[in-house]
Amino acid sequence: MAVSGKRASRPDTRLESVSREDIVLIGIYMISSHRVIGMEQASVMNPKGNRRRDRTKVTYHLGLSGRDTAGARYALLPGDPARVETIAVTLPFEEPRELAWKREFRTWLGYIHGTPVLITSTGIGGPSTSIAVEELAQLGVDTFIRVGTTGAIQPYIESGDVIVTTGAVRLDGASIHYAPIEYPAVAHHLLVTVLVEAARELGLPYHVGITCSSDTFYPGQERKDSFSGYVPRRFQGITEEWRRLHVLNYEMEAATLLTMCGALGLRGGCVTGVVSVRRGSEHITKAALKKGERNVIRASVRALELLVDKEAAGD
Ligand code: URA
Repeated sequence: MAVSGKRASRPDTRLESVSREDIVLIGIYMISSHRVIGMEQASVMNPKGNRRRDRTKVTYHLGLSGRDTAGARYALLPGDPARVETIAVTLPFEEPRELAWKREFRTWLGYIHGTPVLITSTGIGGPSTSIAVEELAQLGVDTFIRVGTTGAIQPYIESGDVIVTTGAVRLDGASIHYAPIEYPAVAHHLLVTVLVEAARELGLPYHVGITCSSDTFYPGQERKDSFSGYVPRRFQGITEEWRRLHVLNYEMEAATLLTMCGALGLRGGCVTGVVSVRRGSEHITKAALKKGERNVIRASVRALELLVDKEAAGD
């Protein structure tokens, strides 16, 4: 066995001729050669196994480079570009400023107790969410909290309540591009913990559980107030089915975000504010929207503050 100078001249390589000493030497050789490979990889890969980033490269859709983002690893992800500024000027954000706005992707940078945080809008639905998450991850972000609005389907959930998603029904298309449909869309446990802690601390009415993410607002959420008024057979009765399976709500991005984050080794979470209750009218009033948005922003910002503080303290 040619694993050391001492053994190099031994001619017999039959398995039965391998001694205990050989096995130990082989082990040492394998471990040390593996380390060498690991070190070589470090020159092109960062410790998470992702490709090393070029700080000057501007991402295609977000219009940001690593020089803009102050090394931020945390991002809040509203859907609506208008909500980005509302979040960024909410306490405890310090020095909020806009970095870029291209199409539906608007990004602000702010600091929570000195830690940089990005707020980027994803637009509506999985495809644009996947772009935002991809490009933010390329810039070094590894922790994502969706800050959305939602329609509740359980009878005990009210307008303005906050829903912390633990997992999502993958009624989207984008997540299948990241992992097969058998792969779960689950939130990172730490993000669920801080979101619940924040909602409880703020005295907001909240619910924790499974969300259904649909690629469509109308048929996939079984809305009859659509142009045709017709719900394709596939979706007729689906809301009652999800209700009986203890799904709490409908929205359009969580499944993509959570599947991607799991598959890419990132941390994903989702909190939404209820703006419609799916009993009777499907209409979303201005007052309901305002209340749902206000509550979800408060919950998400406080949750991120809790997380930043915990992680800065090394917890
Ligand atoms: N967002 C959705 O996707 N559905 C609703 O009912 C409300 C907000």
